[in-house]
Amino acid sequence: MEVIILPTAKQVACYGADVCESLIKTKPAAVLGLATGSTPLALYKELIKYYQQQHISFSQITTFNLDEYVGVSASHSQSYHYYMKTQLFDFIDIDPGNTHIPHGDAVDVQQEAIRYEQLIHEKGGIDLQLLGIGRNGHIGFNEPTSSLNSITRVKALTNATKADNQRFFGLGEYQPTHAITMGIKTIMQARQVLLLATGTNKAQAVKAMIEGPVCAMCPASCLQLHQYATIVLDQQAASELIMQDYYQFAKQACDTLFTQSGEGCTKSYG
Ligand code: F6R
Repeated sequence: MEVIILPTAKQVACYGADVCESLIKTKPAAVLGLATGSTPLALYKELIKYYQQQHISFSQITTFNLDEYVGVSASHSQSYHYYMKTQLFDFIDIDPGNTHIPHGDAVDVQQEAIRYEQLIHEKGGIDLQLLGIGRNGHIGFNEPTSSLNSITRVKALTNATKADNQRFFGLGEYQPTHAITMGIKTIMQARQVLLLATGTNKAQAVKAMIEGPVCAMCPASCLQLHQYATIVLDQQAASELIMQDYYQFAKQACDTLFTQSGEGCTKSYG
C-alpha cells in the first residue's frame, strides 16, 4: 500500500487525474473503474481539462462505476448515472456505449448485479479502480461487516451512510435505502486501485484503513492486501495517522515529480 500525503485537496485531485492520464496514455483502451460522491469531483474537472487540452482521448476507454442506488432511474438527479453524465461524460469524447453503471431501477436488481459482475469480467477486468472512502470505512457501498470476498450485489445502506448522503436529497424527497455495489472482491480484482480522501471527517476511517487490522468492520482495510493500491490524502485526512513521518518519504519523492502553480496542475513528468 502506497500512502501519499499532499498539502491540499486540490493537489490530491491533480495527483489522481495524473495517474488516470498516465494510464490512458499508455493504454488508450483501458478499463476505468469510477466513483461518485464529493471526492472525485475535482479529479473529473482535471480530466475534462486534460481532454480539452488534447492530452488524452477517452474514445477507446471503457468505464464501470462502483455503484448505483436501488429504485432510482438514470434520469433522477441524484442517480449516479446522472452524476457521471453531468460531471464527466458529457464533457469528454467517451462513447456512451462503453460506460457502464448498474441499473438501480432494474425489475430484478439481484439479476442486474450478477449481469454487471459478469460484464466486468467479459471486458477483461478493471485496469484502474478509483475509490473514495466513507466515514465508516466503506468503499463502494460495501458497508462495515461486508464480506471481504463479496462480488457485485445489493447492499442495505447503514444509517451513517444515509445520514452522510442526505445532503444530496431535498427535504421530503425519497432517499434510497439500498444500492447495487461492486463487491470487495470485485474491487480487489482491479489491477490498480487509487483511493482519494480529503478532509478531517475522513481521518478516523483513513487511520483504520491504513494502520488498523484488515477486517470487515473497515471494508477499506482490505486494500492492505492489494498488490497495487495507492492512497492519496490531504493533510487533514492524514491527521490521525501514526506513521506520518514515514509516509512523508513518499510525499517528498512526489514533490520532486509534481508541482502546483496557480489554479491548475503543472505536471513535471509525462
Ligand atoms: C461512490 C461510493 C462511495 C463514496 C464514499 C465517499 O460511488 O461508492 O463509497 O466514495 O461514500 O463519498 P464522498 O466522496 O462524498 O465523501
